[in-house]
Amino acid sequence: MLDATALKRDFPVLQQTVHNNVPLVYLDNAASSQKPQSVIDALSKIDSTVYANVHRGAHWLSDESTALYEESRDAVAQFINAANAREIVFTTGTTGAINIVARSWGEANLQQGDEILLTRLEHHSNIVPWQQLAQRTGATLKWCDITQDGQLDLEDFKQALSERTKLVACTMASNVLGTYTPAKEVTELSHAAGAVVVLDAAQAAPHRLLDVQDLAADFVAFSAHKMLGPSGIGILYGKESLLEAMPPFLGGGSMINVVTEEGFTTAGLPAKFEAGTPAISPVLALPACLEYLQNVGMELIQQHEHELVSYAHERLATLGRINILGPEPSKKAGVISFTVDDLHPHDLTHALDNQGVAIRAGHHCAMPLHQRLGIPASARASFYLYNTRDDVDKLVAAIDKAIQLFG
Ligand code: ALA
Repeated sequence: MLDATALKRDFPVLQQTVHNNVPLVYLDNAASSQKPQSVIDALSKIDSTVYANVHRGAHWLSDESTALYEESRDAVAQFINAANAREIVFTTGTTGAINIVARSWGEANLQQGDEILLTRLEHHSNIVPWQQLAQRTGATLKWCDITQDGQLDLEDFKQALSERTKLVACTMASNVLGTYTPAKEVTELSHAAGAVVVLDAAQAAPHRLLDVQDLAADFVAFSAHKMLGPSGIGILYGKESLLEAMPPFLGGGSMINVVTEEGFTTAGLPAKFEAGTPAISPVLALPACLEYLQNVGMELIQQHEHELVSYAHERLATLGRINILGPEPSKKAGVISFTVDDLHPHDLTHALDNQGVAIRAGHHCAMPLHQRLGIPASARASFYLYNTRDDVDKLVAAIDKAIQLFG
């Protein structure tokens, strides 16, 4: 069992009271998670001891920094079971990672008549880059539907997939409904049709074991700020053969081999995709995040969040007027989105905030999904390893109070 109460003590930001001295109940982890003291200390230590630019200097500090930068890459490769650290590209975030694939792989491989297949569960970051790519190349977008309870409709997926499908973009866990998708099956089916797959793991990598070799994944994107780390960095995993064949996207420092007045030759992997000075300290702090997660254990984290989300389903169902969106708890991550009859999600969220309970309201960067659900917005509570049943009780009590308040 995971002791969330004990873990919570490691997170200074969660020890606060807010507004009129009410304890903070942080349930906005799908937007961004918080940092344990060990990560805060690691960041501070990096900046006070080894910080220098990487892959550029011929001095001790730069050598130290560069060695640690590459150790971070090794740590990420090990965390997701990549065959090779050359397959790990540091980016600005999940959005940055997906945009690299769209710009680089997409422009080199797509043309008019080709199809890009998306699911209706996607976040805007796994939609808009493909819409932009379609505009640039003349490729067509197709959508795979969801079932009535918000799961990926695999039958519809099979129907939509054809020899014209060149790329499939699929989330591993919906940031709104929490729905886990059958990523391995999606990948197998896509490969059989000759398509390359981009998996958005922003809501999966922080919460469950991710094994890119087992998935036979082509591209996987995720962000550090949802897994106890700093904002501003993300990871693009790419199968080595795919990355090797791709042209660089951003041009600048580090991504070159030789530059002359006539042109340039590109560096090898993964530098080819890391133009400019990267987010050095955040990358160097990544092993501290991964170590914390691995010490707790990814299976235990997933199980704990499952228990919390099941409990939240049970408790919320006892309040009248609540409509929980998405599938039953066994099919989803620690995310619960809902609407309350006659109460706008923004009003609800504001009322909860006054009671110290932090959730998110709106379309959660998934407008097509909300259109499919026939609602303009929803309220979302999202859990992580430091959330407790007591947090769920406080959420439910705060919603109950808001319902009374708004009549
Ligand atoms: N993608 C993040 C969310 O779902 C920001 O809230």
